[in-house]
Amino acid sequence: MLIVFLSLTGNVRSFVKRTEMESLEINYTNPLLEVNESFIVMVPSYDDDISETICSFINYKNNVTYLKGFVGSGNLNFDDKYCFNAKELSKIYNKPLLFTFEFSGTNEDVINFKKEVEQFAIT
Ligand SMILES: Cc1cc2nc3c(=O)[nH]c(=O)nc-3n(C[C@H](O)[C@H](O)[C@H](O)COP(=O)(O)O)c2cc1C
Repeated sequence: MLIVFLSLTGNVRSFVKRTEMESLEINYTNPLLEVNESFIVMVPSYDDDISETICSFINYKNNVTYLKGFVGSGNLNFDDKYCFNAKELSKIYNKPLLFTFEFSGTNEDVINFKKEVEQFAIT
């Protein structure tokens, strides 16, 4: 499973690196990349620009065909806005929110995330 991710201050990038999974980084200036394999999208939480950039990527060419789900990184101090971008994208595309974690995640988060993805890929 490919992880497509966006990271502004490096937390998500750090998490992705520790999963040792195949990944593709997109950013505000370069979201129009084509993929041809199953992927999940991992995003930090900031504002509507995050969701818009991810939508541009997903809607590009046939990318949406390969979309499997979303993962969010955030800060629990934001209460009901915790990981709101990932939650919102999950609703827009009707795909599951597979996992959330705070900041760059603990090592336990990385293990649990990988278990979740493996389980999800089987079912
Ligand atoms: C200006 C700003 C706004 C943020 N807004 C939210 C938010 O609404 N909800 C949330 O859960 N986290 C919020 N966060 C926390 C970030 O999403 C979190 O630190 C994330 O791990 C950043 O990932 P990155 O380093 O890969 O960009 C905010 C952080 C900043 C600096």
